[in-house]
Amino acid sequence: MTAPRATKDELESLRQQIRHHNYRYHVLDDPEVPDAEYDRLMRQLQAIESEYPELVTEDSPTQRVGDTPISAFGTVQHQVPMLSLDNAFAPDELREFHRRVSDRLELEEGADQLCYAAEPKLDGAAVSLLYEGGQLVRGATRGDGTSGEDITHNVRTIDAVPLRLIGEDFPPTLEVRGEVFMPKAGFEAYNKKAEKEGEKTFVNPRNAAAGSLRQLDPKLTAERPLDVYVYSVGRIDGGKLPETHSEIIKRLQSWGLKTCPESAVVEGVEGCLAYYEALGAKRDSLPYEIDGVVYKVDNLLQQRELGFVSRAPRWAIAHKFPAQEELTTVEGIEFQVGRTGAVTPVARLKPVFVGGVTVSNATLHNIDELHRKDVRVGDTVTIRRAGDVIPEVVGVIASRRPKGARAAQLPKQCPVCGSAVIRESDEAVARCSGGLYCSAQRAEALKHFVSRKAMDIEGLGSKLIEQLVAADRIKTPADIFQLNKDELAGMERMGDKSAENLVDSIEESRSTTLQRFLYALGIREVGEATASALASYFGKLDAIQQATEEELVEVPDVGPIVASRIRSFFDEAHNRDVIKALQDFGVHWHESEPQRSPSEGGLSGKTFVLTGTLSNMTRDEAKQKIQALGGKVTGSVSKKTSFVIYGDKAGSKLAKAQDLGVETIDEAGLNALLAES
Ligand code: IVH
Repeated sequence: MTAPRATKDELESLRQQIRHHNYRYHVLDDPEVPDAEYDRLMRQLQAIESEYPELVTEDSPTQRVGDTPISAFGTVQHQVPMLSLDNAFAPDELREFHRRVSDRLELEEGADQLCYAAEPKLDGAAVSLLYEGGQLVRGATRGDGTSGEDITHNVRTIDAVPLRLIGEDFPPTLEVRGEVFMPKAGFEAYNKKAEKEGEKTFVNPRNAAAGSLRQLDPKLTAERPLDVYVYSVGRIDGGKLPETHSEIIKRLQSWGLKTCPESAVVEGVEGCLAYYEALGAKRDSLPYEIDGVVYKVDNLLQQRELGFVSRAPRWAIAHKFPAQEELTTVEGIEFQVGRTGAVTPVARLKPVFVGGVTVSNATLHNIDELHRKDVRVGDTVTIRRAGDVIPEVVGVIASRRPKGARAAQLPKQCPVCGSAVIRESDEAVARCSGGLYCSAQRAEALKHFVSRKAMDIEGLGSKLIEQLVAADRIKTPADIFQLNKDELAGMERMGDKSAENLVDSIEESRSTTLQRFLYALGIREVGEATASALASYFGKLDAIQQATEEELVEVPDVGPIVASRIRSFFDEAHNRDVIKALQDFGVHWHESEPQRSPSEGGLSGKTFVLTGTLSNMTRDEAKQKIQALGGKVTGSVSKKTSFVIYGDKAGSKLAKAQDLGVETIDEAGLNALLAES
């Protein structure tokens, strides 16, 4: 049967895509798509080639193992080829493998007793280590399976690779194979540091291991936290090895080579599946990445009988875990408001099966991350879901971006309550300023409102608040003052007595102090101390509500950021409504006269500017002392300035004062002034 034109076109397109990905992966150490996508392309190609064998060409990607080594390193010919493994994804594919093995070995009856060495499939880079007379003489990558790169200088820097074998009975020539990997903790620490220093980060630990091994400068490799497990013997001259794979592994260990502690011998296909389940459950807690299990027929005689097909042994198979990274498309970018008001961008996705579940949303963490990754609606993205971790967008496949895809912007208004969204320039997180009013933040804001140092409403615990919020019974703190005994007694785990106590305690809380009330409002950056400073400085709530940012910074303890937070809180009409409602329900406190210009303060009416470094106090302390005596501290010098206080390294402000003829005094002068006022 000749293949239709469309099939031939598809075949060519698949080959081209696979070649492109091989190059990105093997040569550039910078894969563009997740493994799952690569595997899928490869399988599609294999399926077409097995249906139309006449279309198989020698240069088809299915006909080779890896990719050609880059020329920067010397080339190493593998005398015994470094092969690859076939994959199984579903239990049925594994059963099929076991059946093939049993058939070839004519094991019909004893198939259940067939022993497999089961090992984690380590997610790193394959290496060959050659020992002559017990000395490490060469390290090589797998390359295309027949020839790899000479990376001796780099493997020598890995502590876990012995430079000399131990014991006496090792063969004169021994070539072992194994996996160099970067443990999870080392990978994370490395990436964090690289990000901080503006250097390139690695997409995953495997990529990190492969990239590190191919450094031209071994000093760089030495800085990378690499480890190794060996899992087979390539070549051996002048010695004898045991007759099972598992015994060989033990022997390698006795010569000082590191082997994986999770390896085990299992019986039959059921033994394999049980091992797979158990290892899968352990996967997240292992200190290194694995992406499946490798089963190898344990008996070497049986291995020899089974032999090889072009690129893989018939006696082994890799049973993969569900992929933790997959491709999908972004259908929308929305902003979610968390319990603390943090506004987080979330990608709405075309549902995709990843890490064992179907995922349709992935976090983009914060607005900087969204811009850094430049995720746009319509983009094809890699999604990662490992263990119980929230699915995240790893990155965009730039080449697949549709035309005209526009970048998402941080909304100006909270998508939940419509309040202003505020982001300080030095903060990654943007927040809804709705506070008490925003239903997304309600439960947390209410817990704070009733807490001991705030309104101190005893008996209104977190669980009860959550129930009342969920039942829509409390929308704002004002609703607390409308709760009655009967409805409270009807809530989960509430009896008549506790309902009565709670009502009493709500009643008592109506009489409070301005400081507690201000603190209870939950204005960002306004803790107990600031609430106290505001209360004594202004004396009355109205005055605080009406104060401008310039007036607010006059309060000791209040800087420009805090002042702007206070201002934006009171600028929201909903917040003012809530305060009014609370007062209407009888929440009250004693108001006092403002203390902002103490009549006895000898510095009242005087304006100060501070410049340079003082030796016995900070500028902030000086500011507080001046303010305590009724003086005003501003940032710029004008004709109206009474005094410029200068310390060490005073700059242009001092010069300007001299220009304008403003009186200038040093620290000693300030101390004298403070003392006499
Ligand atoms: S044995 C002839 N055992 O998987 C069999 N390979 O797809 C050769 N790998 O290149 C491989 N863990 O990089 C074997 N326990 C393990 C492995 C393992 C990871 C990698 C290795 C190899 C690839 C084969």
